[in-house]
Amino acid sequence: MAGKKAQMLGQMDKTYLFQNYGDRFPVCFVRGKGAHLFDQDNKRYIDFLSGIAVSSLGYAHPALTRALHAQIGRVMHTSNYFLNKEQIDAAKLLSENTFIGKTLFANSGAEASEAAIKLARRYGKTISPDCYNIITFTGSFHGRTYGSMSATGQDKIKKGFEPLLPGFITLPFNDFEKLRIELEKNSGVCAVMTELVQGESGINIADKAFIQNTAKLCKEKKVLLVIDEVQTGIGRTGKFCAYHHFGIEPDVLTFAKGLGAGIPIGALHAREKFAALFEKGSHGTTFGGNHVACAAAVVALKTIGKKSFLESVTRKGEYIREHLEKLRVSFPFIKDIRGLGLHIGIELDRPGADMVKRALELGLIINCTSERIIRIMPPLTIDMKTIKAGLDILARVFEEAQK
Ligand SMILES: Cc1ncc(COP(=O)(O)O)c(C=O)c1O
Repeated sequence: MAGKKAQMLGQMDKTYLFQNYGDRFPVCFVRGKGAHLFDQDNKRYIDFLSGIAVSSLGYAHPALTRALHAQIGRVMHTSNYFLNKEQIDAAKLLSENTFIGKTLFANSGAEASEAAIKLARRYGKTISPDCYNIITFTGSFHGRTYGSMSATGQDKIKKGFEPLLPGFITLPFNDFEKLRIELEKNSGVCAVMTELVQGESGINIADKAFIQNTAKLCKEKKVLLVIDEVQTGIGRTGKFCAYHHFGIEPDVLTFAKGLGAGIPIGALHAREKFAALFEKGSHGTTFGGNHVACAAAVVALKTIGKKSFLESVTRKGEYIREHLEKLRVSFPFIKDIRGLGLHIGIELDRPGADMVKRALELGLIINCTSERIIRIMPPLTIDMKTIKAGLDILARVFEEAQK
């Protein structure tokens, strides 16, 4: 399938780059428009992946492009020694769309997780010197740095990197009884950290009762509730944050991915009394909250935070799920369809890698996670015509897989 140019790039990739991502697809995108990407041979692809839930405004979004050009022309980086208007504007928008609190900017989801872990430990110290354990859940993913990897509830991510950071307790996801028993033990737990829709392990949605009971118990036991919104936040699920679907009030949120709509940025957002635990000199980063990254975040937050925008994400997500349910009747290898907004998983009874490859050949970008779950996460700005065209390609891929 690879054109000559892509073949050459593939060889150079193997020569010059770490091979930790394995064999990359033999496609190099050189430009995009809306929810379409174009490769070196000008072949057009429909994007149902958004660079793993990042490019929420699609490609060449006029307001984002304008804001970035203008910001790059003015100033890109000054450091956190100085006031930064873009940072303040982005933080204000985060507060307005979540809860009144304070924001600390980072550069990625893993860094946002690290900051959350450090904040949780700081909080634990206000209770007792032995209060440092953080509960996370099986199937979770919080990042690849040592703290965030240690927090992650998947052995395959951690294997070979031992010793890990101590002080994490992994409990089964959606099992409130196990959590209750752990918290009743008074085993020095300072925080519970969780995704509400586990993205990397296959769009596993938390049970509402589990999360509501967890939030209630955390409050009762004075345990910090940290919600990882790195993949689900900034409109991906049809609400500004996934937690807005669950009727809970978290203490701390982490963001990245869609926050910069394609520019690397992460953020920790915490209620004021917890934010105050990071006093002068306790945490920091050179690049975090860089003018360019925050200029992108301001556009993403202003655009996605609008009620009508979020409603459109919900509508488009519902349309895709309904359509997939129809396909499911014809393709019994589809075991389940689940998701919220434009964060959708199709669980197969078989590995999905070949279907992803075939879709790419046919001009559709999808992804398979946890071996058997096809993930659909298009730009939030995708239009109905493009959605329908993408679903037609997907139906053809399924038809061929059935033969
Ligand atoms: C829920 C969640 N948390 C944290 C991360 C880590 O983010 P990053 O890859 O930006 O470090 C990810 C990445 O997939 C994620 O999905």
